[in-house]
Amino acid sequence: MTDTAVQNDLELFQKTVLEGIPNDLPPTRAYDPNADHAPKRKEILNAEEKKLALRNALRYFPKEQHAVLAPEFAQELKDFGRIYMYRFRPEHKIHARRIEDHPHRTIQAAAIMLMLSNNLDDAIAQHPHELITYGGNGAVFQNWAQYRITMKYLAEMTDEQTLALYSGHPMGLFPSHKDAPRVVVTNGMMIPNYSKPDDWEKFNALGVTQYGQMTAGSFMYIGPQGIVHGTAITVMNAGRKIAEHGEGLEGKLFVTAGLGGMSGAQPKAAKIAGSVSITAEVNPKAAQKRHEQGWVDELFTDLDELLERTRTAMSNKEAVSLAYEGNVVDLWERLAESEITVHLGTDQTSLHNPWAGGYYPAGLSYEESNALMASDPDAFKEKVKDTLKRHVAAINSLTAKGMYFFDYGNAFLLEASRAGADIMKADGRFKYASYVQDIMGPMCFDFGFGPFRWVCTSSDPKDLDVTDGIAAEVLRELAAVAPDDIRQQMEDNIQWIEAAKENKLVVGSQARILYADAEGRTQIAAAFNEAIKSGRISAPVVLGRDHHDVSGTDSPFRETSNIYDGSQFTADMAVQNVIGDAFRGATWVSLHNGGGVGWGEVINGGFGMVLDGSADCDRRLRSMLFWDVNNGIARRSWARNDGAMTAIQRAMKATPELNVTLPNLVDDELIANAIK
Ligand SMILES: NC(=O)c1ccc[n+]([C@@H]2O[C@H](COP(=O)([O-])OP(=O)(O)OC[C@H]3O[C@@H](n4cnc5c(N)ncnc54)[C@H](O)[C@@H]3O)[C@@H](O)[C@H]2O)c1
Repeated sequence: MTDTAVQNDLELFQKTVLEGIPNDLPPTRAYDPNADHAPKRKEILNAEEKKLALRNALRYFPKEQHAVLAPEFAQELKDFGRIYMYRFRPEHKIHARRIEDHPHRTIQAAAIMLMLSNNLDDAIAQHPHELITYGGNGAVFQNWAQYRITMKYLAEMTDEQTLALYSGHPMGLFPSHKDAPRVVVTNGMMIPNYSKPDDWEKFNALGVTQYGQMTAGSFMYIGPQGIVHGTAITVMNAGRKIAEHGEGLEGKLFVTAGLGGMSGAQPKAAKIAGSVSITAEVNPKAAQKRHEQGWVDELFTDLDELLERTRTAMSNKEAVSLAYEGNVVDLWERLAESEITVHLGTDQTSLHNPWAGGYYPAGLSYEESNALMASDPDAFKEKVKDTLKRHVAAINSLTAKGMYFFDYGNAFLLEASRAGADIMKADGRFKYASYVQDIMGPMCFDFGFGPFRWVCTSSDPKDLDVTDGIAAEVLRELAAVAPDDIRQQMEDNIQWIEAAKENKLVVGSQARILYADAEGRTQIAAAFNEAIKSGRISAPVVLGRDHHDVSGTDSPFRETSNIYDGSQFTADMAVQNVIGDAFRGATWVSLHNGGGVGWGEVINGGFGMVLDGSADCDRRLRSMLFWDVNNGIARRSWARNDGAMTAIQRAMKATPELNVTLPNLVDDELIANAIK
């Protein structure tokens, strides 16, 4: 854009934000065939419920507009299964602007606008026109009216008010106080018995709830970088697991699927880890987008050519990412038939959402699948199940030849078992472990290491460079005195942050991620705050994290899959975490049902915290980050996880005010004798 176009767009943005729902209806907006749209959702409402959905949608608008909007919204419901209110999608560009470009009365609200805009940026969001950031259904808002009203509230609110957001719906601004969160977000909170996948379909179609995924509905998504780091750690450590003589992943092959919101990070992570990788992606738009963005080196539509290139890359030990534009099951079956050795395998299709576009059946094109899932959901479901059986059969034959396969937190094992695939062992457990059970849990989460992140609200890459330097410096100091059991983590993260700029990870906001424990996060945050105060960093910094962390998420098939005391099916930790963050100074907090493995399968939460260089922020960050990590370590320790028991005792020694209940370990033989 030219400078004038940028200026005009900014003025339009500011005017639109302050306008909220416009008094005069904006012109209708044509459905853009070039955008990546959410699939049509299945028809789930009966005639009465459709009327209710329409009544619900129209309550955002003055009565005099209803005659025009009622038929239009009814048509959207018919065509898409949801009412997105496309007409109200703003004309201005949506992206992370400089913080001062957002009309505001409190800088905290301006930062929140920046963050949520980043989640809806065309270059970032999976289905931007449907307000979906990632995961097929991970929504920021349910419709454009909610977006407009929320932006206006944020622009007008003071730091003596809190905005309550119910699944995207801005319930309103309520008086509160300076230390309170500016926004409290809940997404998909249901009465537990109403948390089946079809309940999401129905209540989302009615416009009363949404699936917030993790960082989508909490405005903390930072594009695929957010997951590149975790994926790089996972692939590297999976590589360490299969190494026979301590060698790296050079010349070894890693195969997976998904080039979507999060899964798009896999090829980049595999390249950072030094391997040859193949990632299958059935949606041509998604595959081409990642290729154009440089996240995938080479794209193939022909399996013969792909396999030939794979052989060469492996024998030359190239660190290269290849992608197959097609169904992953076709790829797996060809690999199983071939002589090529696959060393590592996983899957990151959106199997948390198997019946509504998360997983595409073999034998149908992307478009054919999208049509079938709406026109004949039962037939679609059968095809998905058949494909999953084939998928697992091919994987089983490759693991029999030595491949190490792990579930990548997308409910692959769960849905494959539900589909009747050959995925269970005789003792009723899954044949394969989840990456949290084998890798992330015992090596990272139990010690408090998790995906800490920050965003420079100046939107200036120079500020990001300064923060990278500060973070590396802090980590180097901590690593020098770190105990042996966490030194490897520190070293991996120092390497990561030193190479981060060169790896060109930024898409959208000027954001960075690294894994750090409670002390690392606190020290880095405090150093940022100091640098903002001194002017070394030119504007506030937003701190946050993925919900996929030590304490944020209760998810028995993912984050808490390495909890073995039965409490993996409880959700106290995630709820406690958010409540604790809220009264310790978070700028916003969020609590979600669903995320990662699916609606009803997980409760997760997160926070955002704006650092402005003040003493007040220093106080808040120390109090909140300490709780935000140590809450989860305490719970993991109570579950008798080794690393966590060590970590929490270390934390108690360093902080006398911390006094955690520790488990007494019992002799196995005693138990065996007591219960025969
Ligand atoms: N373990 C983790 O750290 C982690 C992190 C993020 C996401 N996840 C999970 O991974 C999954 C993917 O997340 P996402 O944000 O990338 O979702 P996404 O929906 O943006 O991407 C998934 C991609 O898989 C493709 N796909 C579906 N079926 C396919 C098939 N049969 N063959 C080839 N491609 C196929 C889709 O077209 C889509 O682009 C989700 O379930 C998510 O919860 C795990």
